[in-house]
Amino acid sequence: MFPILAARTLAPLVKEFVIDARPVALKAKAGQFIVLRIDETGERIPLTIAGVDATQGTVRIVFLEVGKSTRKLGTLGAGDSLLDFVGPLGNPSHVEKFGTVVCIGGGVGVPAVLPIAHALKAAGNHVIGITGARRADLLILEDEMRGACHELFVTTDDGSRGDRGLVTDPLRRFIAEGRKIDLVVAVGPAIMMKAVAAATQPHGLKTVVSLNSVMVDGTGMCGGCRVTVGGQTKFVCVDGPEFDAHQVNFDELMMRQRMYRNQEKTALTRYDECRSAQPREEVTSRG
Ligand code: NAD
Ligand code: FES
Repeated sequence: MFPILAARTLAPLVKEFVIDARPVALKAKAGQFIVLRIDETGERIPLTIAGVDATQGTVRIVFLEVGKSTRKLGTLGAGDSLLDFVGPLGNPSHVEKFGTVVCIGGGVGVPAVLPIAHALKAAGNHVIGITGARRADLLILEDEMRGACHELFVTTDDGSRGDRGLVTDPLRRFIAEGRKIDLVVAVGPAIMMKAVAAATQPHGLKTVVSLNSVMVDGTGMCGGCRVTVGGQTKFVCVDGPEFDAHQVNFDELMMRQRMYRNQEKTALTRYDECRSAQPREEVTSRG
């Protein structure tokens, strides 16, 4: 079992757990992910590692309660345990001294880009961060991103914090101003990563994205996470999760992400109905 040592809510429906998982903490590198299961009947949930403390043997994960399984995960708290916590999975980010790197995190993609920004800064790069969310209350880990970057630009769609607009706005501005950029790394919703790729491609700026596709086993066996990159089929879990953004077929990725949306919605509605039908003390027993 893998105990949850600490839990906190970062934004509505966005939670952070610190897990006691020494074997994962000792090996994990920026860009990798884990797959967890709450219990024997639970689905496998893939999550990008948001940080590790090798000395303490802990791994930090951040998740959005988007379906039945993540909603159930969100009912747990410090003192509870997870049945499985497998990792690190996937390839680590390619980290070297590139020069000036722009690290972009959109919404719940921010926790995934944070360790990459830290690693790139430690490798001697000048790291420019862009972090964005729809509204101020959905903006997460801003201070930590500030610490991981030399400069940080904040956007919200409605202007309630930072500049009004999308994360691609500062990026387009840097490009228009002729700022020297050697690499762009973007993690967030697929539509955002597609927009980042569209902004950088005409200027030949090397751009890497971390894909979050439908995953089942996370070990290259089921084919659930397949994407098309450069016209070839790739499995995100073993060939990625990071790919050259200019080669990714984002439209196909988004279509595959939508594939089970109705079933997920039905399962979540049923789960929420069951929970609200439970006696009040059971429903409210956890934070
Ligand atoms: P969101 O929809 O709130 O968007 C976050 C920000 O992304 C926006 O504020 C905006 O700045 C930018 N953005 C969105 N659409 C854009 C567009 N068309 N052009 C330019 N910028 C745009 O994001 P959210 O709800 O927090 O994210 C949810 C998604 O993030 C999940 O569906 C999940 O798939 C994805 N995610 C991906 C990873 C990963 O490793 N790739 C990790 C965590 C989450
Ligand atoms: Fe099964 Fe990648 S999740 S092959």
